[in-house]
Amino acid sequence: MLKHLKADIDHGTPERSSTQTVTLTIDGYSVTVPKGTSLMRAAVDAGIQVPKLCATDSLEPFGSCRLCLVEIEGRKGYPASCTTPADNGLVVRTQTPKLQQLRKGVMELYISDHPLDCLTCSANGNCELQDMAGVTGLRNVRYGVAGAEVDGVCGSHHTASAKDESNPYFTYDPSKCIVCNRCVRACEETQGTFALTISGRGFDSRVSPGQSQAFMDSECVSCGACVQACPTATLQEKSVIELGQPEHSVITTCAYCGVGCGFKAETKAKPPGPDAVRSAPQGGSGGLGRPGATWGNTVVRMVPWKDGKANDGHSCVKGRFAWGYATHQDRITTPMVRDKITEPWRVVSWDEAIGFAASRFKAIQAAHGKDAVGGITSSRCTNEEVYVVQKLIRAAFNTNNVDTCARVCHSPTGYGMGQTFGTSAGTQTFQSVEQADVIMVIGANPSDAHPVFASRMKRRLRGGLTTSGAVAGKARLVVVDPRRIDLVSDAPHIRADHHLQLRPGTNVAVITALAHVVVTEGLVNEAYVAQRCDTQSFNDWRAFVAKPEHSPEAFEAVTGVPAAELRAAARLYAAGPNSAIYYGLGVTEHAQGSTMVIGIANLAMACGMVGREGVGVNPLRGQNNVQGSCDMGSFPHELPGYRHISDTTTRSLFEAAWGVTLSPEPGLRIPNMFDAALSGEFKGLYCVGEDIVQSDPNTQHVAAALSAMDCIVVQDIFLNETAKYAHVLLPGSSFLEKDGTFTNAERRISRVRQVMPPLAGLGDWEVTCRLSTALGYPMHYEHPEQIMQEVAALTPSFAGVSYAKIERLGSVQWPCNADTAEAGTAIMHVDRFVRGKGRFFNTPYVASDEKVTRRYPLLLTTGRILSQYNVGAQTRRTPNNQWHNEDRLDIHPHDAEERGIRDGDWVGISSRAGDTVLRATVTERMQPGVVYTTFHFPESGANVITTDSSDWATNCPEYKVTAVQVMPVAQPSSWQQQYADFNRDQLALAGQPVPGAAVVGP
Ligand code: SF4
Ligand code: SF4
Ligand code: SF4
Ligand code: FES
Repeated sequence: MLKHLKADIDHGTPERSSTQTVTLTIDGYSVTVPKGTSLMRAAVDAGIQVPKLCATDSLEPFGSCRLCLVEIEGRKGYPASCTTPADNGLVVRTQTPKLQQLRKGVMELYISDHPLDCLTCSANGNCELQDMAGVTGLRNVRYGVAGAEVDGVCGSHHTASAKDESNPYFTYDPSKCIVCNRCVRACEETQGTFALTISGRGFDSRVSPGQSQAFMDSECVSCGACVQACPTATLQEKSVIELGQPEHSVITTCAYCGVGCGFKAETKAKPPGPDAVRSAPQGGSGGLGRPGATWGNTVVRMVPWKDGKANDGHSCVKGRFAWGYATHQDRITTPMVRDKITEPWRVVSWDEAIGFAASRFKAIQAAHGKDAVGGITSSRCTNEEVYVVQKLIRAAFNTNNVDTCARVCHSPTGYGMGQTFGTSAGTQTFQSVEQADVIMVIGANPSDAHPVFASRMKRRLRGGLTTSGAVAGKARLVVVDPRRIDLVSDAPHIRADHHLQLRPGTNVAVITALAHVVVTEGLVNEAYVAQRCDTQSFNDWRAFVAKPEHSPEAFEAVTGVPAAELRAAARLYAAGPNSAIYYGLGVTEHAQGSTMVIGIANLAMACGMVGREGVGVNPLRGQNNVQGSCDMGSFPHELPGYRHISDTTTRSLFEAAWGVTLSPEPGLRIPNMFDAALSGEFKGLYCVGEDIVQSDPNTQHVAAALSAMDCIVVQDIFLNETAKYAHVLLPGSSFLEKDGTFTNAERRISRVRQVMPPLAGLGDWEVTCRLSTALGYPMHYEHPEQIMQEVAALTPSFAGVSYAKIERLGSVQWPCNADTAEAGTAIMHVDRFVRGKGRFFNTPYVASDEKVTRRYPLLLTTGRILSQYNVGAQTRRTPNNQWHNEDRLDIHPHDAEERGIRDGDWVGISSRAGDTVLRATVTERMQPGVVYTTFHFPESGANVITTDSSDWATNCPEYKVTAVQVMPVAQPSSWQQQYADFNRDQLALAGQPVPGAAVVGP
């Protein structure tokens, strides 16, 4: 039985993992625990709960509340069990009349300064202070409490303190605070933001965000760790205050980033109300009128799951709080069709919509051939949903024209790691970073894009206690990034040893120069290379990187990185002993993205940094199921499990299982689909869960390609930008409505469990199966579990994956089969690389076509911000907008001054692809000559500027390098004006609320 189905047990203090044990007696029971374990935790192991308030097992003990006192034979006094380590031979008593008296006295003091409003308090029934009053038998308080003076005396109280309601998701009510410090420690130890302090002394002590600021004005990033840690209602989710305490829970997986945090969705029954889903347009029966819908499962809160192996009970603002989009009034809940995109949508039945789509696709194939249609899968869908979409395209459409959003993010990872190591996946678990001595972060900003992993990494970078209770030194840090991301020097108590602040587009020069230092300074791990790697390719590579033109000095003028700094970073990485590389889209989204991934793999192999804990090459995946959508055969040249479509044995396997003949030729990639559409050869697209108009580069080109097609079927939860060009709109499901699995960046397959029924009545996999059947290829499954069974039967690396096993173990990591441990493979390439010998490839640096010129003298690079996610379709429909409600252009003060730009000014950004207008943020996080923006808001048009320059091997767009000019402007760009008109028209045609005026620009 899964642990989550039992009540959570708080062991009071963290687990220790020492190999030495100690044995002691607690309340007459003998208990043996790892050395370093607290008496409190040892007692819990013996089945004894010691009363406590300031201790919780996610935080190091603090010893402030004095409630957990115990007696130890032969020792004087009453030590706190949370801070006293267990030792051999101790005889401990936790329940004696004296202890009861002391604890009752402590509780009496707490309660005397606490509002007596338990029955109306939002935490009633789920409050540790209330529990402890019960446990200690406190009935009366002898001291005056506010409003209930004793002998006319009331004394001083905090009960009238004002609430801080500034955070959109939680309140801070100081009147209920017991100053246990759990929130402060959670913010420091778990999250690493250090936003909270205890200000004042003695009676005046109080929790204070920043310099006695409101939460929203402080450094707080709203991760929720303090709320989670608070034993009272002082820090409380607003949703709990509004809806009351939850009644049920379901374990599921976050639908945002590739960390894949486990969550407990806590729910309760709630009758329909004014916040119910808006009815579908034009008389449709959307919202609550849909068949099978129920409000029995209203989400009260999402609580990070303690047993979630990717997050160990931590979360970020998106997963923890930004789930309200799932019932937002903009949800599309009924199928709709139209003949032309200038016509209003018609609400129709599922059968009519699916029949409409199928007949159009069939007509296109009859007229233009089977390859005139194709489809796009999404990383926001489950593995099972992706699998059936690619199966529909290969078996029902009978073409390999299937691609996925990884095309525009991590396709170079697939290519580069496949070539060098033999498989396309990160080599480690997230936990492995705790064993790293040197961490190199390349082209990634985990604090914003992978926040929970960033917290784990920051803990390692700050040093401190290990799980064995020993004090560990800090890991050293190298950051390779054009921007001064917070890890460089802004994260509390973290400072990068080396920041290689390269010019955008020069990654390959930097990685080759790092390798040059390793090779020419005798830092190669010769024994590792001799044993594990291909000798011929290594010798070629060694000679290649050793060339004088590849030295840091020779490349300095190109990269902008001081040679001495680069040499020092290379020495640090090579010295390890355990060095780990974490990289992001700043590596892949380049014309040389695949070359850079190969360069990273070369460097790691040469230094012997693959195949054990604490090392490895780790792509940080952007969306929640990027890994899974690639694993499931979404690329036009690969069947599930990364097997080439031209491989006869693999194809025969699928042909036999699916009962069709498959084409051996790879199909079209997404950019090729656009080009073919514009040349009239590609006419129909089935696009599931992706918003290619907003996310892909060169928006005008994408829009023109879609406009040229005869049938676009979009399956999504909102009328996204792509849907505005569609002819059929099939309502999709949010993660709360899905059943299936996601695979995170550690190759960890976790269950996504249904919390509420699909608002539109059908799950995404059911819609795809119905469409396939209507196309003449019947596809029928009773449950997504059967889909996973088919995947496991056809894919060796998934052969051991089953829902039953995930249910039992919580999650598994592929490869998972008869050759691996039951839970799969935590660390890849331990004894040998998947391809046998690790293979080196030369990495000649080729300058990007996007060069600065007099016309375009700056380089634009793009990325994400913590509070928003990808195209923003989900997070823009939540209060996360309060942190970031527009895309801004970051520009260095020098470049701004040169152009007469002040902070907050509207500026025009123009490239050879197009123009847009954003507001400027003048910041020294940028280096001179480089500007940066995010792409979360469609009206910003960030991808109007990016070009269709792309990676040589995979066509991954070069989002990170666009030559631009930036100038102050007085009006929106012409694209933005056209977009505003088009958007208004399309919203009106769909019966959605229409904005009154231009949504961007001066
Ligand atoms: S929400 Fe997170 S960042 Fe904000 S104060 Fe609490 S722990 Fe710190
Ligand atoms: S806010 Fe909560 S966790 Fe923080 S000190 Fe007060 S009672 Fe403790
Ligand atoms: S770190 Fe990623 S997976 Fe975890 S809660 Fe945040 S968005 Fe979700
Ligand atoms: S729980 Fe041990 S002192 Fe508070």
